[in-house]
Amino acid sequence: MKKLALNGGAKEVKGKFRPYNPIGVEEAEAAKRVLDSGILSDFLGCWDPRFYGGAKVQEFERACENYFGVPHAVTVNSWTAGLIAAIGAIGIEPGDEVIVPPWTMSATATAILHWNALPVFSDIESNYFCLDIAALEKNITPYTKAIIAVDIFGHSADMDAIMSVASKHGLKVVSDSAQAPGAMYKGRYAGTIANVGGYSLNYHKHIHTGEGGILVTDDEEIANKARLIRNHGEAVVGDMGRSELANMVGYNMRLGEIECAIGIEQLKKLDDFVSRRQAVAQRLTTGLSGLPGLTTPHLIDDCTHVYYVYPMVLQIDAVDASRTTIVDALTAEGIQGVFAGYTNIHLLPMYQRKIAYGTTGFPWNSEFTKRSICYDKGICPVAEELHDKTMFGLDLCRYDLCDDDVDQIIAAFWKVWSGLGLLG
Ligand SMILES: Cc1ncc(COP(=O)(O)O)c(C=O)c1O
Repeated sequence: MKKLALNGGAKEVKGKFRPYNPIGVEEAEAAKRVLDSGILSDFLGCWDPRFYGGAKVQEFERACENYFGVPHAVTVNSWTAGLIAAIGAIGIEPGDEVIVPPWTMSATATAILHWNALPVFSDIESNYFCLDIAALEKNITPYTKAIIAVDIFGHSADMDAIMSVASKHGLKVVSDSAQAPGAMYKGRYAGTIANVGGYSLNYHKHIHTGEGGILVTDDEEIANKARLIRNHGEAVVGDMGRSELANMVGYNMRLGEIECAIGIEQLKKLDDFVSRRQAVAQRLTTGLSGLPGLTTPHLIDDCTHVYYVYPMVLQIDAVDASRTTIVDALTAEGIQGVFAGYTNIHLLPMYQRKIAYGTTGFPWNSEFTKRSICYDKGICPVAEELHDKTMFGLDLCRYDLCDDDVDQIIAAFWKVWSGLGLLG
């Protein structure tokens, strides 16, 4: 038996993984053309044709509509901004409750607080870590107005079930598909099934523009409201001839011409980037099958995973070793980007202390808030157990892995399992 690197043996994974760099010469040339034009942004925050942005914003939005098969794509300067615009555009009001999973990035929930509405955290299921449908139904109250379904790690939430619960209770649905551009859910792109959805274009993501985001919807009214929130809506509605002033506090969420020129080139490469990740993940899943106590990613039938990360779960009783020991041993073997657990947003200090704005507990203590919302440990037992004890993952997104790299990772897993005595 080979000595584990953790105990001073040789590493199984020899080299350093190459960082994943999706930006190529096409993006550089496209950015240079914009620079040469001298027009780095062409938005105007008033009722004017340029309210909708310049040539590259328009071209990128039409390319996104074409790719994702939606009538409206609205670019924004981050997906955090996109989420704020989406929640405002669906008409969320102070005191409304919006259901969100605890496994997401913090911005998904703060976008709700932004409109002085209240996040209600609802547990995930343990196969693909998205909203659990039974828990979701239990968390609906007379005050619930919307659900945010998060396509965490690159796999869609169960949108048929979520849309059916939403329609039964008259709720709107937002898809946070930040981590899942290009993932398919039963023949449609993740992000396009909800009332409104979208993707992050930050530099960690499958395709990126440094920072940025794309909001997609088939609802013209939601798209128009999102465009107003993106670009100083309060100053535009009057001249635009709109009487409706709900949620018309606008911002500068505008994405620049250079970013959009880069985005146009990136979008052309999305399918290729996704299929490269899928090939790596498929090879890993095949190579790791048979390791006792290890569960590799699950997929819903007729869905694809785009592997923002490669998530795994340990059956602690079967492996008889702590997750920390296993993660340390894998890292010592030279696997980069192994991480333990994900997050539990409801346990962040802001929710524990219920203070978002000011110092006195707003908006939980506002006159619009209808009831006390619980953020105690224990409200999302599946997410908490996965985070605290059993889930770990590989940051595939950060590396450009070839077959040989993947085979070394697989060999390292088998070595750790054998060195820790987990193979029986
Ligand atoms: C699930 C999720 N939602 C929202 C965001 C926020 O996106 P951005 O960084 O573009 O603002 C991220 C970013 O990592 C994310 O992963």
